[in-house]
Amino acid sequence: MAKINKNAVLLEAKGLYKTYTQTSGFFVKKQRVIKALNNVSLSIKKGETLAIVGESGSGKSTLARCLLQLLSLDQGELFFKGKNLNSLDVEGKKYLKRHIQMVFQDPYASLNPRMKISEILEEGLLIHDLGDKFSRDKKMRDMIKKVGLEVSDLNKYPHQFSGGQRQRIGIARALIVEPELVICDEPVSALDVSIQAQILLLLKELQKELGLSYLFISHDLRVVRHMADSIAVMHQGKIVEQGSIKGIYEKPKANYTRELLNAIPGNHFKFKVS
Ligand SMILES: Nc1ncnc2c1ncn2[C@@H]1O[C@H](COP(=O)(O)OP(=O)(O)OP(=O)(O)O)[C@@H](O)[C@H]1O
Ligand SMILES: [Mg+2]
Repeated sequence: MAKINKNAVLLEAKGLYKTYTQTSGFFVKKQRVIKALNNVSLSIKKGETLAIVGESGSGKSTLARCLLQLLSLDQGELFFKGKNLNSLDVEGKKYLKRHIQMVFQDPYASLNPRMKISEILEEGLLIHDLGDKFSRDKKMRDMIKKVGLEVSDLNKYPHQFSGGQRQRIGIARALIVEPELVICDEPVSALDVSIQAQILLLLKELQKELGLSYLFISHDLRVVRHMADSIAVMHQGKIVEQGSIKGIYEKPKANYTRELLNAIPGNHFKFKVS
């Protein structure tokens, strides 16, 4: 099991802003500015899971894309292991690309249908120059077994797998380059309910074994409760409340958090909303 110093901050975001401009109308063009991130700050500790919850459109995926540097920020600062990401050189950017990986929502769209599983897994190893052919093959065999599939599956194509199995492949692809932080953007919401628990359990086991940190994005507060150490609640681009699992579920402060908790199906206890 990986030895980890749980209190070390792995990733820190300070005052992130991101706006989109949407144009609508055919004859008369109207422009609408959407504040997708409006002064968002958070930190993720080593070996821990921070969940981001919030309804559709609250800015969760925008946050994920900004952290992965797939989108540029309008304003704000990001630190990974204390290093300011605005000042990274080419090597630093490559390091970051390896150490922050992503598991996507849709395991159907996120795997290239023309690539064998071995090619999908090997891609990251080649990009990051990790090992020779022999050690890459061994890493792939080890990883495919770790996610609960078989070595013979490496020779197959994505269409030969079910949704849950594809998500296992997506997880293997993210983990094979040995990242420190994995951003999971709604990793089970496209799967059958019966499969969701298996994938969540797998993510938890791998976290423990490999000492991973997760940023776990979800709109489902029931799922988050079992996955996270702490939660940030997003609403219209802002974090309206942040705290431990116990604090948020037992003593939610923000009205919006109370509304989200009250909306959980089968939840008979209702918090007061002022
Ligand atoms: N590329 C884009 N161009 C313009 N507006 C965008 C773009 N991407 C997102 N938005 C808008 O920014 C806001 C935040 O979107 P985002 O996808 O981050 O939300 P989300 O919380 O991930 O939602 P969901 O739960 O539906 O995935 C929304 O109002 C969305 O319409
Ligand atoms: Mg999203």
